[in-house]
Amino acid sequence: MTSKPRVVVLAALPALGFDLLRPRFDVAAGGPRVDSGWLRKHTPGAAGIVADPSIPVGPELMDAAGTSLKVVSNFGVGYDNIDIEAARARGVRATNTPGVLTNATAELAVALMLAAGRRIAEADAMIRGDSWSGSQENILGRELAGATVGLVGFGRIAQRVAALLAPFEVRLLCSSRSSGPVRDAERLALDDLLAESDFVSLHVPLTPETRHLVDANAFAKMKRGAILVNTSRGAVVDTQALIDALRSGRLAAAGLDVYEDEPHVPPGLCDLPNTVLLPHIGSATAATRDAMARLCAENVIAVIDGQEPPAAAGGRSRRIRASTTAGS
Ligand code: DGY
Repeated sequence: MTSKPRVVVLAALPALGFDLLRPRFDVAAGGPRVDSGWLRKHTPGAAGIVADPSIPVGPELMDAAGTSLKVVSNFGVGYDNIDIEAARARGVRATNTPGVLTNATAELAVALMLAAGRRIAEADAMIRGDSWSGSQENILGRELAGATVGLVGFGRIAQRVAALLAPFEVRLLCSSRSSGPVRDAERLALDDLLAESDFVSLHVPLTPETRHLVDANAFAKMKRGAILVNTSRGAVVDTQALIDALRSGRLAAAGLDVYEDEPHVPPGLCDLPNTVLLPHIGSATAATRDAMARLCAENVIAVIDGQEPPAAAGGRSRRIRASTTAGS
């Protein structure tokens, strides 16, 4: 009897993912915070590794698995945590879970615009800190209606944000690398978008070109009192420059779901009242996480079975439908 191929799961994969993997594979479930001893024990001979965007997957981990390794399946969108060149050189496929988290992440971006704009976290803290006098407090924010919203990047998630913002009566701008036609937004060069937007929301993947795309220079171009929202990747923003911009009043507020060095959030951000800080929950709805778990497992199964996976880096992947209802 041949033994089943081993799959090492380092992500916090929902049960549905394990239900799909366990009948076919010998699954070693370590979770995101395993130590090197656990990895030394379970990785050698693995055919698949399931990671998430917080887990760096480089040549060392791939070589620890050895030549049996066929797939690194990201439980998340994009590949910024995976050394794609190292994977390619070893004949390992890298896969991810796009499309199914589009709506959940887009809704969270809109929630952060509203929360940062209306100073929801500060107002909530006032109640919990028992410092509400009972009168109408002067926690004055700004409305979306009539504001100019700039979407940096105009992929699936940004397009969904654009659709969700339609009833808010905003002027919608976008900047995007592709030169194709854009619907629902006016395309501008990034510098012009930064100069004209009251709210700037980031929707680019993290690549060498987008690392610190929003730095001190970018903040200097933004309107005084603008609001920044980031649900993409923390390293798209230079954190120290962001803290300086929030302290100086160049930015009125920031709504953040992602950070440069997760799970570390610098005290400089936590100390500022004009930040709304979330622990990377863009895709965190039960329906979306289940849809991601299914796609993540399907990617593993397809590659180990010698088939083209639904969503692979540089692959002829089946088109993943961007869901408008979470998880559908
Ligand atoms: C992502 O890719 O950022 C999702 O939120 C999963 O972490």
